[in-house]
Amino acid sequence: MRVTVGVSGGIAAYKAAELVRALQRQDVEVHVVMTESACRFVQPLTFAALTGHRVITSLWNEIDAGSAAAGQSGIEHIDEAQWADVLVVAPATANILAKFAHGIADDFLSTMYLATNAPVLVAPAMNVNMWEHPATRANLEILRQRGVRVVEPGAGDLACGMVGAGRMAEPETIADAVLNALGRRHDLAGEIVLVTAAGTREALDPVRFLGNRSSGKMGYALADAAESRGAKVILISGPSALHPPAHCEVAKVTTADQMREAVLERMAEATLVIKAAAVADYRPVNFSGQKLKRSGPITLELAPTEDILAEVVRRRRPGQLIVGFAAETENSMENGRAKLLRKGVDAIVVNDVSAEGVGIDADVNAATFLTSTTAIELPEMPKRKLADRILDEILTLRRPRSLVVELDEETPQQKVLSESVSPASVQRQLIVE
Ligand code: CTP
Repeated sequence: MRVTVGVSGGIAAYKAAELVRALQRQDVEVHVVMTESACRFVQPLTFAALTGHRVITSLWNEIDAGSAAAGQSGIEHIDEAQWADVLVVAPATANILAKFAHGIADDFLSTMYLATNAPVLVAPAMNVNMWEHPATRANLEILRQRGVRVVEPGAGDLACGMVGAGRMAEPETIADAVLNALGRRHDLAGEIVLVTAAGTREALDPVRFLGNRSSGKMGYALADAAESRGAKVILISGPSALHPPAHCEVAKVTTADQMREAVLERMAEATLVIKAAAVADYRPVNFSGQKLKRSGPITLELAPTEDILAEVVRRRRPGQLIVGFAAETENSMENGRAKLLRKGVDAIVVNDVSAEGVGIDADVNAATFLTSTTAIELPEMPKRKLADRILDEILTLRRPRSLVVELDEETPQQKVLSESVSPASVQRQLIVE
């Protein structure tokens, strides 16, 4: 597998070295192409030493006449474009995104982009205002429409001193996206995955609502991961500022009721339902058509919403896997286990949302993947990576797996030598030695 890492001129350029290493650890052969401004941040020598290959920094390198005889064009950007199984640009500046979007080919990287038929990924990194600028948004939209995969940046402290979105995704996350693009994993081909994401909003009056802090990041990461592993994805999302993955079907909803309707309408065709949405448990009994006026204390009367997940379980068809999420602030495992049984799902992803900087609205999350027989700890990691780990665990529910488990100290000759786990039942095969 051969990957060209394009490095454009941003402070995150130094992180491209970690990306190169992460790819090499997966036996990927890496070439590096740098723009002129990238060379001001990091020396090409760094990448040359890491990859063992000359780093391409200009369109105007000497043409190697001998390469034509070796079946190459002798024109370096064409050869490189054909060599690469994937082109990934990390960091991708606003400038290189604009060039890619508009077909400007005035340096090696932008020329190679036009010349390659390989999948292209970009990992943007820039100041929050540049990231949010309509020009950047429009350029990204063009690229997405064209099938370029965008490894979304995270939010946090930026090198410019501002706080917000625009920080390049972690090298490990980018490497995972590259491996997915390389088709290393196509293990969800044939699955139809329905994912719910983000929070719902229950209106009080024309301007106010009851809502929650869910951003949709976990659900969107799951949709993206499932899609890149070959699944057809239906994403049903509450309000969220995120961009859905390029090829998934999206239904945007606002209230719990609308989410319920959308889920029930689409669930029959799904082979796997993952309910990552933070659905409101209550909605105001009365909606005021006019903006409520300020006047002393008020009491809101709330009515419970339908439990969509419970309804999905009631309507499940044979073979359909159903996975819920549990957001907990105390006794996570006990509450998670109780929810697993109460809701009758195949598995539940338990999040402790009380921890600082993890879970709701954060870029990272930690969770426990709970089934009736197992509790798999998924330590803190970027949500996109966690999404892949959750899908890995869900897939183990599809196929029986073998474990070797010591059973009972008092009868050491008895061991569970194999345990096959299926969503509906757990069979233990006791083998007496
Ligand atoms: N859920 C749902 N419909 C609701 C509320 C929750 O489908 N009206 C789903 C969520 O999408 C999630 C799971 O149920 O997959 C658990 O949600 P959570 O808010 O953790 O639990 P609740 O069922 O609301 O229970 P509690 O508030 O008592 O923790």
